[in-house]
Amino acid sequence: MTISLKSTTIKVLKELQKADGIEAKELAAKLKMDYIVVMSAINELSDKNLGYFKEDEVSEIELTAEGKEYADKKLPELRLFKLLMDKSLKQIEINALKKMAIDELGFSERIYFLALNYLKKVSWVGQSKVNKEVLILVMKQEYEDKPEQELLSLLGKRETTNIKDIPGDLKQYVPVFKKRKLIIEKKYTRRVLYLTEEGKHLPESEITTIKEVAKLTHKLIKSGKWKNVSFKEYDVTKPGPRIFPGRINPLVEIINRVRQIFFSMGFIEIRGPIIESAFYNFDALFQPQDHPAREMHDTFYLDVPSKARLPADDKVNLIAEIHENGGKTGSTGWGYKWKRDVAEQVLLRTHTTATTVRQLGKAIAEGVPLPLKVFSVDRVYRNEKVDFSHLAEFTQVEGIIIGENVTLADLRGTLIEFYKKMGFEKVVTRPGFFPYTEPSMEISVFSKELGKWMEIGGSGIFRPEVCEPWGIKEPVRVLAWGQGLERIAMLR
Ligand code: PHE
Repeated sequence: MTISLKSTTIKVLKELQKADGIEAKELAAKLKMDYIVVMSAINELSDKNLGYFKEDEVSEIELTAEGKEYADKKLPELRLFKLLMDKSLKQIEINALKKMAIDELGFSERIYFLALNYLKKVSWVGQSKVNKEVLILVMKQEYEDKPEQELLSLLGKRETTNIKDIPGDLKQYVPVFKKRKLIIEKKYTRRVLYLTEEGKHLPESEITTIKEVAKLTHKLIKSGKWKNVSFKEYDVTKPGPRIFPGRINPLVEIINRVRQIFFSMGFIEIRGPIIESAFYNFDALFQPQDHPAREMHDTFYLDVPSKARLPADDKVNLIAEIHENGGKTGSTGWGYKWKRDVAEQVLLRTHTTATTVRQLGKAIAEGVPLPLKVFSVDRVYRNEKVDFSHLAEFTQVEGIIIGENVTLADLRGTLIEFYKKMGFEKVVTRPGFFPYTEPSMEISVFSKELGKWMEIGGSGIFRPEVCEPWGIKEPVRVLAWGQGLERIAMLR
């Protein structure tokens, strides 16, 4: 009687006939086969009562980088104690010892205190306080390795060590080292393959290869060969390929789409600080210092750092003057006394206009060719109560175009084009108000999904009060816009 087996199963059988008790992974590597193919071979052998496998849990120990260092140079507490011994010290002030450990052993402060604590724990040293001075007292007469050092050197000899190979008296230190993050333990299941007596002695003459066909092809049908082949069966109990369902965060995908669109329209991407000065977030944008948006309930102010650095005094003075009386811009300003310390407050930027306004100074100072077209897609923060349409942390799509004789029509055209590329066919602009633009426009897009218009942000032409301090004057103008991203991201 002959037994029919798949060709891969025959290979596995022959290998096991040489010596069984091999781990599946090892055998797979040896035969250059997939692990899954090896497991399916052993299943086939098991169906025919020729083989079987046994499972066991294996624990392997590996040293971390820190563990390796201590296997090499010894545990820091031992090195610290040795230092005390070498210097024949009986007592020493705690900071003097720290300095010694840092200078002579190359310890960090953290490692020093760690080492000291371990020495206290085993009572090799004690600590006492005399007149505000903390003394470390040496309690042990001579140096000796701690028993756990032996475990470290044992582990240091090999990349990984099976926990079974650790001598009984050293095993107790495994959890200690795990806690100290000197080792990591890796657990996995081992499958070891064996043959039954029948499998071991099955002669080659009694084995035939099954010709299995996985797909019914045109050729097989036409030639009539389909009548003679055996079709591979589906086994729904076999493990399938592993699937890792990770993917790019949807918001990041949208952000990348926005970037692509601006790049395709000839824009350069800029980024600015999240932690911003009130100066760039508000003052440079001609928002008076008593503007309600600056108040705590809208803006997150920071205590640390306590003060922001402002740009050069001549710029700051120009802006102060413009707030107070309009300076040379032809404006009358806001008519109040501008205060430097209010501008120096530190906050989480409430809009990315703080980032684009920083470009105005650069554009002229660095003499970049105009038109300059930049954009930013980045986080902003407002002290909002979180609900279905508000977040305290959200993303703004911001941009400016600095150019000679650019107009509101250019601004509209740019925005309409952008939103069209984002999939919004209908865009409307309406008059709006912002302290830093004149004229100003609100922008809404029509959502087919919701069947309604959604307001997504503002835009306009920066006022002379914003532009002139940085040397930007007619006929050069700055078109600006800033819109929320999350609402349209939700639709997409
Ligand atoms: N900064 C405004 C906002 O956060 C948007 C805006 C940007 C308006 C630029 C005009 C010009 O809503």
